[in-house]
Amino acid sequence: MKLNNTTAKTLKKDFPIFKNNPGLIYLDSAATSQRPKSVIQAVTDFYEKENANISRGLYTLAAKATEKYENARKVVAHFIGAEKNEVIFTKNTTESINLLSYTISSILPKGKNEILLTEMEHHSNIVPWQQLAKRENMKLRFVKIKQDFTLDINDLKNKLSDKTAIVAFTYVSNVLGMINNVKEIVKLAKQAGALTIIDAAQSVQSLPFNVKEIGCDFLAFSSHKMLGPMGIGVLYGKKELLEKMRPFNFGGGMIKKVTLEDAEWADAPQRFEAGTQNIAEAIGLAEAIRYIEKIGIENISNWEKELLKYTLSRLKEAPGIKIYNPGANNSVSIVSFNLKGIHPHDVAELLNNDGIAIRAGHHCAMPLMEALSVNGVCRASLYIYNTFEDVDALASALKKITEKFNR
Ligand code: ALA
Repeated sequence: MKLNNTTAKTLKKDFPIFKNNPGLIYLDSAATSQRPKSVIQAVTDFYEKENANISRGLYTLAAKATEKYENARKVVAHFIGAEKNEVIFTKNTTESINLLSYTISSILPKGKNEILLTEMEHHSNIVPWQQLAKRENMKLRFVKIKQDFTLDINDLKNKLSDKTAIVAFTYVSNVLGMINNVKEIVKLAKQAGALTIIDAAQSVQSLPFNVKEIGCDFLAFSSHKMLGPMGIGVLYGKKELLEKMRPFNFGGGMIKKVTLEDAEWADAPQRFEAGTQNIAEAIGLAEAIRYIEKIGIENISNWEKELLKYTLSRLKEAPGIKIYNPGANNSVSIVSFNLKGIHPHDVAELLNNDGIAIRAGHHCAMPLMEALSVNGVCRASLYIYNTFEDVDALASALKKITEKFNR
């Protein structure tokens, strides 16, 4: 379905949140998206009609629940171009990266001790690696961003070396909207013999992605930013790597055999899914993917570009605005900005008075704030259900705020 302002308005009707909150102008989809009725219904249906634990019971209901959960894995795998057994269900992106940081030691390339990240990572893709570096006596390095808010590829080339063990980076910055050239970064990292990890938390809902085409070793993302339920996320890993990795959590569901003294691990992905999983949420995620695929991810990308172009042009009208975005050709529809002399929290609070929801603050990216020399920024993030009218409302509210403060 081609998205434009008219179809986006129609699509908005699929999302009960807007009916239940009349007047809500939701511009915080980078924090969490809203969910369509079909996703909410899929979760409810599971509890009302199919609820049973998976991979255990021999009765019909349990077999049906197991089939739906495993089918959800297939849907996710197909969406990112992976094989079914390369998809591990986790809680969210943060847990996916934590899982990796605790289990990656057994596959780290020998004789290498550096982890290369970028200045635009959010905390989920920094803090777990800091902890790994402390445990394994490794060194962290960071690729710089340029004045135009894009990643400095020359700096990346300079910092990659035969010591680089891991290159972990975001596809899309949650603050700048910047779309990194994943193909090129993975290629350069591979040439240096490093493992590659892509944080797709802000890209998987907006941009087409195929793990085999890109060739990354791992990929992490959350369901709740892509129309799916909260509490479910994904870690993709290449099969041959997952098979060599130790488990993360220990307990039921991740073993082949247990004696009083020891245990043998199940194959991937079950090895990494100890205990009862978020079954209904996995099924809800599959439904969210169906919704996205029905529209078409390319159509979503194109609509985001339109929305972004319009947002950038309207926001530029606000006196004293500073925009932190690399432009519509390099970004998804995430726009961060500051109004001169007005604290981002004040801006967010005043916008809230007009029913406009944005996020303000450090956006779980304190090192990036430092690189930008700010304490915080305001961030408007738009998704498929946003319209030009939402942007107009934001632009006029910002105008009102600047007039009030500069009176
Ligand atoms: N990473 C999420 C955000 O950007 C929570 O808001």
